[in-house]
Amino acid sequence: MYNSRISGLGFYVPDNVVTNDDLSKLMETDDAWIQERTGIKERRHVVKGEDTTTKMGVKAAKIAIERAGIDKDDIDFIVFATLSPDYYFPGGGVLVQRDLDIKTVGALDVRNQCSGFVYAISIADQYIKSGMYKNILVIGSELHSGGLDFTTRGRGVSVIFGDGAGAAILTREEDPKKGILSTHLHSEGQHAEELSLLAPGIGYRWVTDILKDNDPDDVSYYPYMNGQFVFKNAVVRFSEVIMEGLKKNKLEVKDIDMLIPHQANLRISQFIQRKFRLTDDKVYNNIMKYGNTTAASIPIALTEAWEQDKIKEDDLVVLAAFGSGFTWGSVIIRW
Ligand code: COA
Repeated sequence: MYNSRISGLGFYVPDNVVTNDDLSKLMETDDAWIQERTGIKERRHVVKGEDTTTKMGVKAAKIAIERAGIDKDDIDFIVFATLSPDYYFPGGGVLVQRDLDIKTVGALDVRNQCSGFVYAISIADQYIKSGMYKNILVIGSELHSGGLDFTTRGRGVSVIFGDGAGAAILTREEDPKKGILSTHLHSEGQHAEELSLLAPGIGYRWVTDILKDNDPDDVSYYPYMNGQFVFKNAVVRFSEVIMEGLKKNKLEVKDIDMLIPHQANLRISQFIQRKFRLTDDKVYNNIMKYGNTTAASIPIALTEAWEQDKIKEDDLVVLAAFGSGFTWGSVIIRW
């Protein structure tokens, strides 16, 4: 059996910076409220028509491919995670295959929202461990701004999310002590609707009925979040799944060199950091600049941390995520 390691990383965010003050011109909110509750100062929004979820993912992927030192045709498989796809179907994976002009390799779409990248890495890792593939392109990308309610009605959700993409190349690693040591995935569908976007799900409402009603107040096309309930569950599950990963590898909290938590809310990251008594240099946060970019948040943060030399050879790197589903997971990596 092989291991997989991350051999290349890249990210892309649109140039367009949207500050909290910019949002307060659209809805009743203010910089102090947003920063106090979430830590977010600004986020990026695409300029309408200039980028799509796939296009951003492709830009991130090109950087990751180059840094991995491989050719696009060395890629054996694509895993694409998003909750904001270009189309309802087909998924973004095939669009990446087309836009990167890669040969006709398999392309799989992952729909696990904020845990999407962790799930995607876990899938790619299994294909490499089994010996089936050598190089897998894993992308997390989101275009939230085109689907949020920027009126006061939607302020509890729309101030939190931002656009962007991150990508990683997973490559076969012969040394069993290096690379991805283990991944841990969970779900609790009992809380599916607590953080959800119901339309255009056919199980929710038939398209014919939606068209017939043509109701401008139908908010089912906007995401819903029970913020406090999500927060309470997130802090518990983040902690559990990090400990599960450490235990599995006979490691302890003190062995962590870098924790990259999904950037849901700075207060959640700080809670975990305090609970585990990790020093500031051992937790990477960038939600202040980008907001919550869902499936893209971990690969963007991981790429930034790596670019800033905060991750070195042999470091123990832990990725952890929690989000809609509920789903949550962790990845334990010996870099
Ligand atoms: N600006 C100003 N006021 C706002 C606001 C905004 N953007 N959004 C909501 N409010 C108001 C509410 O209407 C409410 O007013 P009321 O008391 O008059 O009804 C008040 O602020 C408190 O709202 P509440 O939702 O209880 O705030 P909160 O302290 O729970 O903070 C979140 C809201 C969303 C920041 C917080 O719950 C959170 O971060 N949850 C986790 C979210 C998360 O991690 N999501 C992603 C998971 S992957």
